[in-house]
Amino acid sequence: MITIADLINKMTLEEKAALCTGVGPWTTTAVERLGIPEMIVTDGPHGVRRSEDVHNFITKSVPATCFPTATCMASTWDVDLIHKLGEALAEECISLNVDVILGPGVNMKRTPLCGRNFEYYSEDPYLAGQMAVNFIKGVQSKGVGTSLKHFAANNQEYQRSTISSEMDERTLREIYLPAFEAAVKYAKPWTVMCSYNKINGTYSAENHKLLTEILKDEWGFEGLVVSDWGAVHDRVEALKAGLDLEMPGPRERRVKAVIDAVRSGELGESVLDESVRRILEIVFKAAATKKGGLFDIADHHALARKVATEGMVLLKNNGILPLKDQQNIAVIGRAAKEAYYQGGGSSHINPTQVDSPFEELQKMAGSARLVYAEGYHKDETVDPALIDEAVKSARSADVALLYISLPASKESEGYDRPDLDLTQQQVTLIKAVTANQRNTIVILNNGAPVVMTEWINDTAAVLEAWMMGQAGGGAIADVLFGKVNPSGKLAESFAAELVDTPAYLNYPGENGRVRYGEGIFIGYRYYDARQMPVRFPFGYGLSYTNFVYKNAKVSAETFKDVDGVTVSVDVTNAGKVAGKEVVQVYVHHQKSKLIRPPKELKGFVKVALKPGETQTVTLKLDFRAFAYYHPAYKQWISEDGKFDILIGASSADIRCTLTTTLQSTLELPSMLNRESTLREWLDDRRGMSVLGPLYQQINAQMKANFGGEDNEQIGMDPMGFLMDTPLVGLFHFLGTAMPTSPEEMVEGLLAKVYGAA
Ligand code: BGC
Repeated sequence: MITIADLINKMTLEEKAALCTGVGPWTTTAVERLGIPEMIVTDGPHGVRRSEDVHNFITKSVPATCFPTATCMASTWDVDLIHKLGEALAEECISLNVDVILGPGVNMKRTPLCGRNFEYYSEDPYLAGQMAVNFIKGVQSKGVGTSLKHFAANNQEYQRSTISSEMDERTLREIYLPAFEAAVKYAKPWTVMCSYNKINGTYSAENHKLLTEILKDEWGFEGLVVSDWGAVHDRVEALKAGLDLEMPGPRERRVKAVIDAVRSGELGESVLDESVRRILEIVFKAAATKKGGLFDIADHHALARKVATEGMVLLKNNGILPLKDQQNIAVIGRAAKEAYYQGGGSSHINPTQVDSPFEELQKMAGSARLVYAEGYHKDETVDPALIDEAVKSARSADVALLYISLPASKESEGYDRPDLDLTQQQVTLIKAVTANQRNTIVILNNGAPVVMTEWINDTAAVLEAWMMGQAGGGAIADVLFGKVNPSGKLAESFAAELVDTPAYLNYPGENGRVRYGEGIFIGYRYYDARQMPVRFPFGYGLSYTNFVYKNAKVSAETFKDVDGVTVSVDVTNAGKVAGKEVVQVYVHHQKSKLIRPPKELKGFVKVALKPGETQTVTLKLDFRAFAYYHPAYKQWISEDGKFDILIGASSADIRCTLTTTLQSTLELPSMLNRESTLREWLDDRRGMSVLGPLYQQINAQMKANFGGEDNEQIGMDPMGFLMDTPLVGLFHFLGTAMPTSPEEMVEGLLAKVYGAA
């Protein structure tokens, strides 16, 4: 059997260079003479957008199931369901002759203004990572590849192709990379797609640190790195950085540049060979999956409906829902007839069928009379006549269902949202209808949070139905009529106002740079730290039943970081209908050396409970659940100390708090140097032991000279004052009492710390 190494040996330089750039919009270069086939990749991520002609950029795409977008998927918090969805996508890929689907997208929702947030999971790296792991495992279990994107820090559409996302190392490691890291380590995506933007000044496509040092060397990524479409600026630099496959093609000049660079010695042929090897591994892996056949359209449509019902989030309910025996129902808003179920851009699917929310409602409403009013136009036109008509129908009904969808001008790939508002017409419509019908239920179709200040108080209920996929119309009816008990929870915070959002002062950037000034404090990490109220917190969502948490337990009072702990809690469905609860576990470090968020999600379980049923939910918290990235040590570290384990129904609804003590097994090197302060010396284990005896002496001397803590001569605690003085400065201050010069003293101590003396 011919091996990949044999093939590389047989390939000419020209063939190798050609392989590293696509030949068309969606295909890699085939080398017929050696039996190397083309590989077909298509978007993603919530459906298969397969062009009728994969060799042509602008062609219609063939019908495929449009599943709910990532926001809705993440709001299910149901990893098994996401795995199933992945399997279904793979079945469609196989049927439509697609080798790799371009998704999932795991970029963090840094600001709700990012126009593409609907394609991303969460503001929380752990949740996004779990979703991605299961999506990828689902797809790849069938022999179809995925492309984990957009690596990395592509958190806005504004100037997405050129902007430099500027952040410190800790923010990158703790917020913007972990979802990618989890996906790479636990699900092994076949491909990773680099982002368009720069990170700290270097394009992702040419970023050696990102693509080679972190992704390949540190995380052990074995697949190929593909560029986002058109993200490469310098093909040779990109290869050197670890960008294996440039897409799309053809780009003859790029191929020639690679050939020239190898010939001139600028690019080592071994670098090219390594990319060729990675590409060939995936091309042949993909070819091993036999394509063709049909996929089950009805079955996938039903799955799309299931995901939509599980992902919809009931935000408010004064008891009107589920609908019972209302006979006259006003159905207002064009989204009731024209389902708004996906976003604009590269992810736009040609659906196999689309449920009409109105028709699905009618099917379930039995003998009830439904009266429809359009309410608003597709664009942002203001039209009082539509409002008058809607008010009229609302007045004579028992209940008004207001279907509100955002116009494409307000969210899409390619541009950011101008604000978080509904259109003026929609706000006026909701206010007018609620003023005339107190049983008004608002159903929202959007990919990201909207501001509700002006209208929410007068509504009876609000259902966040997201971009709900092609079967979403039926899913809404399922939830409204209680056929399905809602169990979705928000995967991102809903701020009360745009000005409250963490990145508000650092968005969209200027002069080509956007500074991530809020650092690690995005989403609920920020609102928690600022103790700021939000409209709806991360992890929040209502049900038609209620759950009681009891008997929370942690497996150890004291544990070693490497062992982790197990946490358990009994959850009871205390209501009258079956339901599902998402149990969330957050961790809080009581006292850390570097600043940490008040709490961080480290585990969750979705559990289904019949009325009266109790189940014990158990989950494991490992080293990383307690660790943080220390930029000075350049690694994830654990610190000795007490941790609170917060178990709750949302980030703002903590039902049980446990405390446990971590013992770090890490042997961290000293970070002491000539500039280290007295406090740093005392905080450092080696430093403390080396300085200890001298410190006692100094302390005693200071006390003798200046008295106690509340010294009258200088009106302060002298030792407190000196704590943040470099040791060398302290020795200068103590002057003649020291046997050698201050500099020599410090050098001597440092030598002891580092074992040289
Ligand atoms: C998008 C990617 C997409 C690619 C191919 C790019 O513009 O950013 O997410 O996969 O196009 O359509």
